[in-house]
Amino acid sequence: MPRIDRRSFLAGGLAAAAIWRPLGSARAASFKTDPFSLGIASGSPRADSVVLWTRLILEETAAAVSADPFAPAPQPVTDPIDVEWMVAEDEAFSKPVQSGLFRAVPEFAHSVHVEVKGLQPGRWYFYRFRSGNAASPVGRTRTAPESADAFRFAFASCQQYEQGYYSAYGDMAGKDLDLVVHLGDYIYERSYGAQLVRKHGTGVPSMLYEYRDRYALYKSDPQLQAAHAAFPWLAVWDDHEVINNYSNDRAPDAPDQAAFLARRRAAYQAWFEHMPVSPGLAAGFDALRIYDHYRFGNLLALTLLDTRQYRSPQLRGSAAADQPERTMLGPAQEEWLGRTLGGSRAKWNIIAQQTLLSERDTRAGPETGHNLDGWDGYRTARARLLDAVQSSAIRNPVIIGGDLHAFYAADVKRDFADEKAAPIATEFVGGSITSDAPSEASLATALAENPHLKFASDKHGYAVMRLSDRSAEVDFIGIADRKQQNSPANVFQSFAVADGAAGVNRL
Ligand SMILES: [Fe+2]
Repeated sequence: MPRIDRRSFLAGGLAAAAIWRPLGSARAASFKTDPFSLGIASGSPRADSVVLWTRLILEETAAAVSADPFAPAPQPVTDPIDVEWMVAEDEAFSKPVQSGLFRAVPEFAHSVHVEVKGLQPGRWYFYRFRSGNAASPVGRTRTAPESADAFRFAFASCQQYEQGYYSAYGDMAGKDLDLVVHLGDYIYERSYGAQLVRKHGTGVPSMLYEYRDRYALYKSDPQLQAAHAAFPWLAVWDDHEVINNYSNDRAPDAPDQAAFLARRRAAYQAWFEHMPVSPGLAAGFDALRIYDHYRFGNLLALTLLDTRQYRSPQLRGSAAADQPERTMLGPAQEEWLGRTLGGSRAKWNIIAQQTLLSERDTRAGPETGHNLDGWDGYRTARARLLDAVQSSAIRNPVIIGGDLHAFYAADVKRDFADEKAAPIATEFVGGSITSDAPSEASLATALAENPHLKFASDKHGYAVMRLSDRSAEVDFIGIADRKQQNSPANVFQSFAVADGAAGVNRL
């Protein structure tokens, strides 16, 4: 795998633009501050295409990103700005592949989404942007392979900015990976917890510019930028990209439904503006279809689900969790999932969703308690999903999730009450990058009460899955101390799933 030379990754900035051959049609803007200060990213890797992303931060909007309470109010920049993009086979850009111009417009916060087509499958590419006197850092990306005998990807979630540093991303950027999957809570709308290491500096967002500023703050982190620059990403949101524990069109902390829907629209637009996702998504933000399906040869099919936008309202008590009309995915996504799984020929079928799919009784002793924001509040919907997994007869279903701020490994049962039943799928939940973890005692209770839960940990970090013809191996990677910058990371537990035999095996 070609590595990014640290020097050229850092070679962006204002002076670096001199090494570019100017294109006559590019608008010759002269920036006083680096417009590429949010970094670069790539995503949505297909066999012949990939999406390149950046967002220009202009002098006037830079003030809004600052945590300085006396900074002047941001003045909107109303001019469109042309951005040149370039893709090459090599890091020095001596073997250019494609280039072009993208007009970044203020309506989308001067974000850039370029879908580069006509690429070769399973290949590393390098990319960069330029505008006026400024050049971006160099990023590296990879198209989906048409055939593969090995594939490695990381999955991550829950990166509350105030609660820790992104050492996990610094570690991830140095790994040998083909892809990163983000499972939600990329930003947080408000402060949580104590012992904060840094501050949002602004309040809870409800306006579009406020959500933009929150993303800009998170994306100003150099370790997060390094992980984006090193690999293509796939991303799905959870609740905190909008507001805590929202369900479809309602949220416990935003009782006015019309106001909440306007806020959700703003939050969805800001998510689009900051993610390396298809420019085609920008058609509208009242609804945003982010569930999707990706193939990586015949080795891996990855299905990304959206468990927030279409779900039934959260219950106050578990009595109604078995109502058949309750839905987590909504009827259209559910129908799409059944069809998608039915058509998959892949050896490994990863279903990427936001939280723990497996049942989890959280109360010690004979009484039961459940997290009603998770699948335990949507039992009939879970049963339908597991029916779809079984009836499609997909090979090696593996569920991945986040949300719980804890690592879990689980045997997925058709009936979780049946201890003797063979697992029908295997599940791995990654710990949070930084967000506060539950207590060790609560994890011990979960393991004791739920025999299908095979492992739990309150460490912070991320997971890596390595797929081959014979097995899926998963590393849980923890950082020593999220409150320290550049905290060391190490693999603290590994697992294997054998081809043809669902279930967690500790290594
Ligand atoms: Fe979270």
